[in-house]
Amino acid sequence: MDIVKFKNYSWKYSETDKYVLKNINLTIQQGEFLGIIGNVGSGRSTLCMSLLGLVPHLFYGKTKGELIVDDIVVKKAKISDLSSRVGLVLQSPDTQLTGAGTNVEEELAFGLENLGVPRREIIKKVDSMLKLLNLEQLRNRSPFELSGGQQQKVAIASVFIMEPKILVLDEPTAQLDPLGTEQVFSFIKKLAKKGTTIILNTQKIDYIAEFADRIAVVNKGRVVKVGETREILTNVELLRRNGISPTVFTKLSEELIKNRLYKGELAMTFGDAVKIMKKVKRK
Ligand SMILES: Nc1ncnc2c1ncn2[C@@H]1O[C@H](COP(=O)(O)OP(=O)(O)OP(=O)(O)O)[C@@H](O)[C@H]1O
Ligand SMILES: [Mg+2]
Repeated sequence: MDIVKFKNYSWKYSETDKYVLKNINLTIQQGEFLGIIGNVGSGRSTLCMSLLGLVPHLFYGKTKGELIVDDIVVKKAKISDLSSRVGLVLQSPDTQLTGAGTNVEEELAFGLENLGVPRREIIKKVDSMLKLLNLEQLRNRSPFELSGGQQQKVAIASVFIMEPKILVLDEPTAQLDPLGTEQVFSFIKKLAKKGTTIILNTQKIDYIAEFADRIAVVNKGRVVKVGETREILTNVELLRRNGISPTVFTKLSEELIKNRLYKGELAMTFGDAVKIMKKVKRK
């Protein structure tokens, strides 16, 4: 089932002269993991905000075409209609934590309490979320005392616990160090197995290479190409043309081919690179 449909969709902020999203046609299947990649200022965050209706309902501007999210016409809906279906996680973890709870457990319970979910059910959900994400040892800690990576995990968990049909992550690791980034990605990988539709905007293509179903390449407000992860991430001309650097493993395999140490397909993941290294000619 198509859960998101952009049909000739365009958007212009009232402050911008040009359209920031241009004639986008993109369909996202329920349960799929779509990676969004592109260079700086290409419109990826705006695309993410459209899915929750922040564009056009919170920001002023002009739309053309149509965006349908879970059978709701976004332009005609309210943000509150969409927020029960779409969860949005932003770059900076500390601004997303509500501070309503004194510890991680209460932070996770906050959204459910607002919805009036019975206490017993909340406890069950919070427990299973903490367990799933190996956050049990942080249960009684203040969210504001945690590392950036841990905070972002809590922020994502507090969105995911609301069971949105669609989880949108806008560069969730942009402000994290390498270890925090690794933690957050392994955590997203776990969530992806739960069947939620996940749309992840990131510059860290080495990570999404491991688990995205499809990738959309965005440039200057246009979705220039959508395809299966391997098809997109091993298309080095396409990536470079759109200001994106291929994964380190792709670059390694390119270099080996150039130096005639290996002949064959380009690598995309760590696993591919290991296989290639076994075939590399020894001088
Ligand atoms: N609230 C806003 N008002 C006016 N213009 C905006 C607003 N937000 C973004 N823009 C402009 O829209 C364009 C796309 O911005 P957007 O943030 O969606 O891109 P991005 O691909 O997420 O880039 P970044 O690499 O900065 O995250 C940019 O030219 C930006 O200046
Ligand atoms: Mg952005």
